[in-house]
Amino acid sequence: MALNPVTQYADDRNLRARQRLWAHQSPTFDIFGWVLDLAGVTPEVSVLDLGCGNGQYLRSMQARGVTAVGCDVSLGMLCSAAGHRPLLNADAVRLPLRDGSFDVVLAPHMLYHVVDRAAAAREMRRTLTGGGVCVVVTNGADHMRSLRDLVEAAAGQGSPGWEMKNPSTHVFSLENGEAQLRTAFESVTRVRPEDVPIVRISDADVAADYVASVGDHYADDVARPWNEVVEDVRRAVQAVIRSEGVFTVAGDTGAFVCR
Ligand SMILES: C[S@@+](CC[C@H](N)C(=O)[O-])C[C@H]1O[C@@H](n2cnc3c(N)ncnc32)[C@H](O)[C@@H]1O
Repeated sequence: MALNPVTQYADDRNLRARQRLWAHQSPTFDIFGWVLDLAGVTPEVSVLDLGCGNGQYLRSMQARGVTAVGCDVSLGMLCSAAGHRPLLNADAVRLPLRDGSFDVVLAPHMLYHVVDRAAAAREMRRTLTGGGVCVVVTNGADHMRSLRDLVEAAAGQGSPGWEMKNPSTHVFSLENGEAQLRTAFESVTRVRPEDVPIVRISDADVAADYVASVGDHYADDVARPWNEVVEDVRRAVQAVIRSEGVFTVAGDTGAFVCR
């Protein structure tokens, strides 16, 4: 599995396909508000949003009157957040920022794409003020199990026993992330939200587009062409929708609060 293939974040098309699926939550869990509250983000604090992508957290902060610095290694992603200022094009493992620059560092759904996560954690710690807080968001082992089962069934036809080891559920997850962050932070606390995000879709294309968006992570490990996997998943989701009216996907998302 490739952690951060160059095609994945050349622009925000893949991320948008996944955001479209999460837009079908019922009831809606406001993950952005949850993370900002965990980090104590208010207009008085300085914030670095590491791996800001197309700027969803930046927009939520703007709505709170907070102007954070958005940082991403991909210029294409920064272009999609271009309405926001300031933006920084930099790699999390080597931040061109002074020690102690921010009260809050956010790393939402990004650390699992970084090969040298210890170096990135050191940089997050270094750029924080003494009493600052870093909130790192990732997923747990059960994340999107219903959809991953369908992907494994389809891909498994050419690659028996293949498991969809998502970077966020295996490389840096809610289960194994704490030990990785402790290399840089004294205190690391795992927090799970009370509300589990649940998506209910009645359009199979939404699930198929999601699966298509992650193909470059797995295409080298799977014998079947990824587009065939996508079409099988589309048909399987459609069958569930026909018989039950809806296809349900539960998220398993949480965060580490690091000091
Ligand atoms: C799954 S997206 C998350 C975007 C955003 N944080 C969110 O939650 O909506 C991951 C982002 O991390 C960025 N990224 C990956 N590796 C990075 C690195 N080494 N340094 C900075 N950003 C990185 C990607 O370019 C991408 O925009």
